Amino acid sequence: MGHIVVKNLRKEYIERRKLNRSQECPYVPCGEVNVVFEDINLEFQEGEMVCILGPSGCGKTTMLRIIAGFDKPTAGNVIVNGKEITGPSPDHIFVFQHSALLPWMTVWENVELGVRHVRDKAEREEKIEEFIEMVELEGFEDNYPYQLSGGMQRRAELARALVAEPETLFMDEPFSGLDFLTHMKMREEVVNMHEFFEKTTIIVTHDIDDALIMGDRITLLGGRPAQVKMSRKLDFPRPRDFTADEELTELRHEIFLALGVNYAL
Ligand SMILES: Nc1ncnc2c1ncn2[C@@H]1O[C@H](COP(=O)(O)OP(=O)(O)OP(=O)(O)O)[C@@H](O)[C@H]1O
Ligand SMILES: [Mg+2]
Repeated sequence: MGHIVVKNLRKEYIERRKLNRSQECPYVPCGEVNVVFEDINLEFQEGEMVCILGPSGCGKTTMLRIIAGFDKPTAGNVIVNGKEITGPSPDHIFVFQHSALLPWMTVWENVELGVRHVRDKAEREEKIEEFIEMVELEGFEDNYPYQLSGGMQRRAELARALVAEPETLFMDEPFSGLDFLTHMKMREEVVNMHEFFEKTTIIVTHDIDDALIMGDRITLLGGRPAQVKMSRKLDFPRPRDFTADEELTELRHEIFLALGVNYAL
């Protein structure tokens, strides 16, 4: 089950450089508060793939980390399957914005982490092989992350996340650092996987096209402090094609405008 409700979420940070560093009282925060976002109310239906869009620094990563249980909100709460979350869950897999492969493990061992719950060795190995093949890393199984290019590291990380077939998948800019063709291929792979497994998937991106091609719904954050500017269900048939679907093109323009770009390429 992967039904998630986000209620009145607010996150603020106290600016570090404004901390009082006087000797008498070295750690008393006396500076300005950076309210990253507030009044965030969202609902993610079970099995839904939602793409969260927003300009850089608006709090997408922060919000995803809170929903996944890695971070605490300043106010509000996140309810997963009827229970308030108190921390990360093994049913949730998070793909980080920056590489999070374990550097002392090979590609094979890193991907194996995703299936360590599978008892049968042959079944486990079959799955690892299947997913390494899917991300085209055959032949690099024994390489350590430092022996891979940035894009290859990203692919290994995606394999590790997808092989686990988690209840909920959180992805923070999952395709960043990939070359154009791999980006397209991985995007298609994530869509196919989602259609097959139908697990709740929340993807943070600033790529409008990724969001429109992949999402069952898109949520747009914006403003300072950020708030939900738009939440739209995407009922367009797949595979989606901007050139063929006028309504989709119009929505794309609308989102570009909402993000402050006056003309979309
Ligand atoms: N640990 C932290 N301490 C203080 N401020 C933080 C911390 N983490 C994030 N912030 C601030 O919160 C805001 C949102 O950061 P966040 O990383 O969530 O943005 P984002 O939308 O993911 O940006 P990007 O698209 O560039 O990844 C920024 O203003 C950032 O400076
Ligand atoms: Mg981010």
